Amino acid sequence: MKIRNSLLLFLLFTVLLLAVAVRAQDDGTGTGDGSGDGSGDGTDTGDGTDDGTGTGDGTGDGTDTGDGTGDGTGTGDGTGDGTVDTQPAPTESDSAPQPSSTSTPPIDDNGPAGTGAVDQATCNALKQIFNSMNGNGWAINTGWSGNDMASCCSGWFGVTCNNGAVTKIELPYNNLVGTLPDVFGSIGTLMTLDLSHNQISGSIPGSLSANMANLRFLNLDVNAMNGNLPGFQNMPMLSSIHLKNNTFTGSIPDSWGSILTLTDIYLSNNNLTGPFPGAVLSLSQLVNLALDNNQINGVIPNNLGTMTSLQTFNLKDNHILGPIPESVGNLTGLTSLLISHQMLNGTIPESIYNLANLEYLDLSNNRLRGNISPNIGRLQKLKRIMLGHNGLNGNIPEEFGTLSALEYIQLNFNQLNGQFPGFMAPRALGYCYMTPNQFQLCPDQTIVGNPNSMAFQCATDCIVGSTRPGAGSSTRVNLMTLITLAMAALAFVLI
Ligand SMILES: *[C@@H]1O[C@H](CO)[C@@H](O)[C@H](O)[C@H]1NC(C)=O
Ligand SMILES: *[C@@H]1O[C@H](CO)[C@@H](O)[C@H](O)[C@H]1NC(C)=O
Ligand SMILES: *[C@@H]1O[C@H](CO)[C@@H](O)[C@H](O)[C@H]1NC(C)=O
Ligand SMILES: *[C@@H]1O[C@H](CO)[C@@H](O)[C@H](O)[C@H]1NC(C)=O
Repeated sequence: MKIRNSLLLFLLFTVLLLAVAVRAQDDGTGTGDGSGDGSGDGTDTGDGTDDGTGTGDGTGDGTDTGDGTGDGTGTGDGTGDGTVDTQPAPTESDSAPQPSSTSTPPIDDNGPAGTGAVDQATCNALKQIFNSMNGNGWAINTGWSGNDMASCCSGWFGVTCNNGAVTKIELPYNNLVGTLPDVFGSIGTLMTLDLSHNQISGSIPGSLSANMANLRFLNLDVNAMNGNLPGFQNMPMLSSIHLKNNTFTGSIPDSWGSILTLTDIYLSNNNLTGPFPGAVLSLSQLVNLALDNNQINGVIPNNLGTMTSLQTFNLKDNHILGPIPESVGNLTGLTSLLISHQMLNGTIPESIYNLANLEYLDLSNNRLRGNISPNIGRLQKLKRIMLGHNGLNGNIPEEFGTLSALEYIQLNFNQLNGQFPGFMAPRALGYCYMTPNQFQLCPDQTIVGNPNSMAFQCATDCIVGSTRPGAGSSTRVNLMTLITLAMAALAFVLI
């Protein structure tokens, strides 16, 4: 009798535990808000050739998401450290012009030896670069390490010469360590300098800070350089400045405002301070401007709209406050507008819906209020929209349903209300963060049950969550009933 009782008891407990476990699991998926937050910081994790791409890895937790800036440096370099970015890059627009270094490792294109010897001063300057930057430790140092100065440049890894003129030095990912020697005055013919992704410290030397009359492309991305940004005076050809991921301080010098050849400025992930740099506003040829993750403060100037060539603008993760200026709507070439994670307030300017080329829009994590306009439907190229973590209210406009390129939508942590969207999801949609918000109604069952609907794809919350009266509580009642019954049975057996 005793044994039978124990056995019964054991069985009962097992059943009870199972029931509780099943219930708990159910609760997790059911009443969890299903939101993720889709905010993430979108900082770029790419490390290789295509850095600046978002990761967009699709874990569905909403924490990632690339930033869509792309820096277009494309240093495909043949140094072969294998650190190319293996991440998929759903946000990458990368419309930046590809500079020189896209294909084979640059080598001497001097032609037959002797067509133009490089002069001694230039050779000495190259040798000093080698000596100051731990040349013997470089990943590849072919040519540089020898003592044959007569053939200087010819066959030297990463150096391009043309009739005795050194035109390119490209040594990205090559384990350069130390400070840059102040020798660029002797290499005035230089058009391209790419020393990105090394361990260069110290500031930009004086000879590289001005008077490089031929320099077009400067890339010192991802090093450990510091100091103020140089003025780059008398550099009439300069078109690309890549200085991201260093620790430069101060702000953009006014003198940059006269370099009208500038098309690309990448200063992400530095320690820049001060107000929004007025100098860039006069750069009517500027295509890409990345200032994200610095400490820039103050407001966005009202005449932002003067940079009429701009295609990508990334200002996120700074300390900007105040409104988004109406003139943003004049930047009609914009494909990427990223100004999240600061203290922007006011409403989303109506003019923003003029930006018909926009593919990436990130206004999340600000203090924006007001509605999302039905004119959102005019942004037909939109792939990724992030408006989450603001104070937006009103309905989600039906027009979202017409955005056929839309892959990613993040509207959570607002006060959006009314009925949860009843439209069908855009076909490309893969990520959807809609809750928490303040939706009062679910669409009717035929929509909620339709796998193509927004409600079905975005929202376990709409179906199970607190917006459907009774759904949550009925779960709890079932659990209580189960436990009570089990207790009763237990008591019975024990007695
Ligand atoms: C650049 O800096 C950002 C922010 O600190 C970081 O997340 C990213 O990994 C860095 N990129 C590289 C290539 O080091
Ligand atoms: C740059 O800013 C980071 C954090 O924002 C800080 O840790 C670091 O000390 C700063 N570096 C310099 C050189 O100011
Ligand atoms: C923007 O365009 C409007 C016309 O659409 C014009 O009135 C305004 O002056 C422009 N603003 C700037 C800053 O260029
Ligand atoms: C936006 O923020 C600024 C600066 O904090 C403040 O002066 C202004 O009143 C705010 N505007 C709105 C519409 O909240």
